[in-house]
Amino acid sequence: MKILYAASEAAPFIKTGGLGDVAESLPLQLQKEEGVEVRVVIPYYKSIKENPNFNIKFVTSFAVDLAWRKVHVGVFSAKHKNVTYYFIDNEYYFLRDGCYGFYDDGERYAYFSKAILEMLMHIDFDADIIHLNDWQTALIPAFLKTHYAHIEKYQKIRTVLTIHNIEYQGKVPNNFLSYVLGMDEGMRNVLSYGDCLNFLKSAIVLCDKITTVSETYSHEIRYAYYAHGLENILSENAYKLCGITNGINTDLYSATKDKNIYFNFKAGEVLRKRDNKMELQKELGLEVNGDIPMVAMISRLVSHKGLDLVERVANELMALGIQFVVIGTGDEKYENLFKHLAYVYPGRMSANITFNLGLASKVYAGADIFLMPSKSEPCGLSQLIAMRYGTIPVVRETGGLFDTVPALNTETLEGRGFTFKVYNAHDMLDAVRRAVEFYYDKVKYTKVVKNIMKYDSSWKVAAKKYINVYSQIIQ
Ligand code: GLC
Repeated sequence: MKILYAASEAAPFIKTGGLGDVAESLPLQLQKEEGVEVRVVIPYYKSIKENPNFNIKFVTSFAVDLAWRKVHVGVFSAKHKNVTYYFIDNEYYFLRDGCYGFYDDGERYAYFSKAILEMLMHIDFDADIIHLNDWQTALIPAFLKTHYAHIEKYQKIRTVLTIHNIEYQGKVPNNFLSYVLGMDEGMRNVLSYGDCLNFLKSAIVLCDKITTVSETYSHEIRYAYYAHGLENILSENAYKLCGITNGINTDLYSATKDKNIYFNFKAGEVLRKRDNKMELQKELGLEVNGDIPMVAMISRLVSHKGLDLVERVANELMALGIQFVVIGTGDEKYENLFKHLAYVYPGRMSANITFNLGLASKVYAGADIFLMPSKSEPCGLSQLIAMRYGTIPVVRETGGLFDTVPALNTETLEGRGFTFKVYNAHDMLDAVRRAVEFYYDKVKYTKVVKNIMKYDSSWKVAAKKYINVYSQIIQ
């Protein structure tokens, strides 16, 4: 089977969040499976174009219609390991600093989606499945239905939509239908939602299968608390919805192999882990003392990551006698919160308002406790990464956090972390307190560090599940 994996970002070329990781590591694993050929397509952003390290070659160019306009499409490609990546080039839309957040994002990704379909006319790849990811590629089923249905090679194409985060839906004004998409009134019903058009909604209605990035999230998004308005559409389409929990690239995130950390260590080698912590304390200007429990957060600093809880009990957290290390960028409000804490607690709190992968590795390896109190978390990759480095997660029981971090029973040592259910600051504080207490129980702590480092978070299982989903719909 031939799969075209369409996404708005993919590491190592471009990554702003978890989607970028998934769009690298899932295709690599799929490609290893028998009888599967997968290629990936993403926009040719400025930062990719200007990076001399990628060996990217021109493939072809043509024009695509967007309503009454003809718009240029360049196709470039590169091999990453065994997988071919395509890059859609249009300097007007993509030669900008950053990926998202422009006034014309709706038009940019409508263009991207149509260019992908048009590209299939010009390259030697007969896709059976187009795998869509989030709203940026969600118009593909609508374009397939309206502009490509009459062409034979498109008739067999089936679509799978993966929802990584339902908060972002691709909403545009009503006049977009004819003005940009070039679709007639017959499609308004499919695209329209509330008082605007909604890309994601149209894909939910039109695609053949919907997946979410964890089991639990596939249930949560049928309810208003999580669905950002789409609960009814999802409930109606639940018959084609399932959850497949993400994996991570376990070669990359590996305490034994990672070149970024100070000392590599094997499962359960807590003294080596402690050495990493002490080097990190030096580097970050914290008090150097291997016995102080270090709590870390590595996260985009946005509200659904549960930062309001941290803000609410920040001083009580620090009163647990911990060191606290944060890495991330995002809303100014939260950046300031952590900068302020670093000012109030010198030597104990380190606020790194950056996106630095090397430092992130060091923190994953050096910290003892990894805090992820998300309000919602479709899957979450950081808790999986933290476990690879023996850092015990403290999570709220939601989405992929619930699926990957079962509550630890401190007697039998079954489970993988400390959890709390209700989105409440003191419940979170209590979970951190239990984790800190547990840290001092060296025998048990060592066993759990060993267990979580051995937990299999590779893509092997998930890739098989995706192939199963593809097989169900393929012609
Ligand atoms: C989004 C979600 C995150 C998930 C990632 C990859 O960033 O917020 O929970 O892990 O996508 O699927």
